[in-house]
Amino acid sequence: MRLGIVGAGKMGNEIAGVARARGHDVVWSLASGDNREGQGLSPDRLALADAVFEFTAPGAAVGNLLLLAAAGSRVVCGTTGWAEELPRVAEAFRSGGGALVHATNFSIGMRHFLEVARAAAGLFPRAGYSSYLVEEHHAAKRDAPSGTARTLSAVIEKESGERPSVVSVRAGTVPGLHRLVFESPEDEVELIHRARGRAGFAKGAVWAAERIAGKSGVFEFGELLSADLSGTGGARTP
Ligand SMILES: NC(=O)c1ccc[n+]([C@@H]2O[C@H](COP(=O)([O-])OP(=O)(O)OC[C@H]3O[C@@H](n4cnc5c(N)ncnc54)[C@H](OP(=O)(O)O)[C@@H]3O)[C@@H](O)[C@H]2O)c1
Repeated sequence: MRLGIVGAGKMGNEIAGVARARGHDVVWSLASGDNREGQGLSPDRLALADAVFEFTAPGAAVGNLLLLAAAGSRVVCGTTGWAEELPRVAEAFRSGGGALVHATNFSIGMRHFLEVARAAAGLFPRAGYSSYLVEEHHAAKRDAPSGTARTLSAVIEKESGERPSVVSVRAGTVPGLHRLVFESPEDEVELIHRARGRAGFAKGAVWAAERIAGKSGVFEFGELLSADLSGTGGARTP
């Protein structure tokens, strides 16, 4: 596939490496200086790419996504911190005829962690346990709590009726840690997901781009993954 990248930062570079290793061509990659007021997303440039990755910053994502939607592009967006705008962005993709895959976390390990958290939230609170979340990320991360912590928190609230409190730590170079704790006066149970780097996110994002080739519509990463795992002969490891 021919791939474009909006956001030539840490994730953009990781995705470029994974994509090339899987035999794809990265035909363009834009940093913020290449894309003032969205001018980097010209029709000529967008026509060169079969799929586009959007990994920028909370304040930039929605503007970029609306331009990509209007052009009918196929897009994998991992930028966090814009969830309240999802309905508007999704509608733009549906009317533009393109495709959008979005997720606050493209790692398959975190995807399964969410399922484990859902199951735990159906057990512990009923037995009188309360819950809280601690998330740690590198000092340059702009949003807090992380998009993943918000997703985890929503899953737990939906399952148990109780929203866990969330503590965010921003320090050093931590690629991403989420710790979910259920505690009672007698004991505590901890579930931890610790990213070892950005490769897991990049692999999931490239896998998602491969899965939406020829498709239109709006998908959350987990939906694509569930469909793949329940199908026959699908790739089990993004
Ligand atoms: N879903 C997931 O699995 C996942 C995993 C990790 C991170 N993330 C999220 O992905 C986003 C990027 O993370 P990162 O660690 O790669 O951050 P980063 O290293 O700061 O990279 C962001 C890049 O986007 C560029 N940028 C900002 N506005 C832009 C615009 N309007 N057009 C084009 N490029 C623009 C920045 O350029 P300048 O440096 O010139 O400003 C920078 O190169 C964050 O929201 C983060 O939370 C998601």
